[in-house]
Amino acid sequence: MSKKILITGGAGFIGSHVVRLFVKSHPEYSIVNLDKLTYAGNLENLRDVETNQNYRFVKGDIVDYEFIKEFFSKEQFDGVIHLAAESHVDRSLENPAEFAVTNIVGTLNLLQAARLSWKDNFSKKLFYHISTDEVYGSLDHGGFFTEETPVDPRSPYSASKTGSDHFVKAFHSSYGLPVIISRCSNNYGPNHFPEKLIPLMIYNIINNKPLPVYGKGENVRDWLYVEDHASAIHVIFEKGKAGEVYNIGGNNEWKNIDLVMMLCQIMDKKLNREKGASEKLITYVKDRAGHDLRYAIDSTKLQHELGWKPSIDFPAGLEKTVDWFLNNPEWLDHVTSGAYREYYKSMYDNR
Ligand code: NAD
Ligand code: DAU
Repeated sequence: MSKKILITGGAGFIGSHVVRLFVKSHPEYSIVNLDKLTYAGNLENLRDVETNQNYRFVKGDIVDYEFIKEFFSKEQFDGVIHLAAESHVDRSLENPAEFAVTNIVGTLNLLQAARLSWKDNFSKKLFYHISTDEVYGSLDHGGFFTEETPVDPRSPYSASKTGSDHFVKAFHSSYGLPVIISRCSNNYGPNHFPEKLIPLMIYNIINNKPLPVYGKGENVRDWLYVEDHASAIHVIFEKGKAGEVYNIGGNNEWKNIDLVMMLCQIMDKKLNREKGASEKLITYVKDRAGHDLRYAIDSTKLQHELGWKPSIDFPAGLEKTVDWFLNNPEWLDHVTSGAYREYYKSMYDNR
């Protein structure tokens, strides 16, 4: 085994695609997936790789410093790809402290444990932190986020991710820890938890439930297929320069309402419903507090310096995503059991 790599949050949506990519493309690496298995973590996402020789799962909490410190000291990782986080903006509005603890303190614990386990000898080591375009704040109708855009977080989620980014940078400046940060736009694809826009709409269309569009549906997001995010993370981990920030995005902006309409059309065909049937489910509901108007990423640096580009266009990616959800009803059934129903009721019943 040429390298031992820790992937945190590997049982979540993006993390599971990153774990799969590394396990399959690097038989010579040893991949350790550390995840607390919160409501968002699901080992069913990794059934196809769980028995691979070069893969191991460890259940654990990044907030528990004593556990993390011992874990790093015992395992002696060569690299860390850190995805574990609380990731949903709406939940952060309900419970901001949980986001500060997991995203800031959890990241700080990993940085400190990595530094101590590497005993300040950082040759061939890397701490790679997965951040988000939301740290840049909200755009008006023009312009893009570049790596030089000042951070301006506006939700408790993005504030907590910004806090974690600051600690990552501070460990680089203060101790020379080799770090990389990447900031990606909205992901979509298989295994996406149905609290986020696209899988929630797919689930509700299947079940003939109202499609809750916040405000007027005018907000814009820049969507990237999750496997393209995983391939960007792979390229950055292998070829990125320590100390750098890389933006990742698909140059694929959609107004929420246009995206939901397109999804309705795809689903009508797939479910053999009459044209326009799903659109009738669209329901405008109370807007998200402090709802960021528009995100749009400029990923020129990553494309030019490291040669990455997205491989799947949006209509094809959306169709693949819909097919995955329709072909995996048990996965959807499991994740939308008891606790999900309570969440949905508390979030949407009085909107
Ligand atoms: P997710 O919510 O699907 O998964 C998060 C994972 O982290 C889960 O498996 C969960 O069990 C685990 N986790 C949470 N708290 C933990 C703890 N205390 N200890 C150990 N594990 C814990 O999230 P996602 O959408 O896959 O996002 C992954 C990362 O990518 C996050 O850091 C997020 O900020 C970032 N990101 C997400 C998107 C997106 O569109 N989803 C875009 C850009 C960046
Ligand atoms: O930009 C990257 C970020 O994208 C990630 O850092 C976050 O982890 C990820 O959750 C995502 O954040 P968003 O808030 O953009 O994603 P969400 O799917 O929650 O919402 C997308 C848009 O759809 C947003 O404008 C709010 C709107 N929306 C969302 C839901 C859940 C609705 O109109 N109705 C809904 O029911």
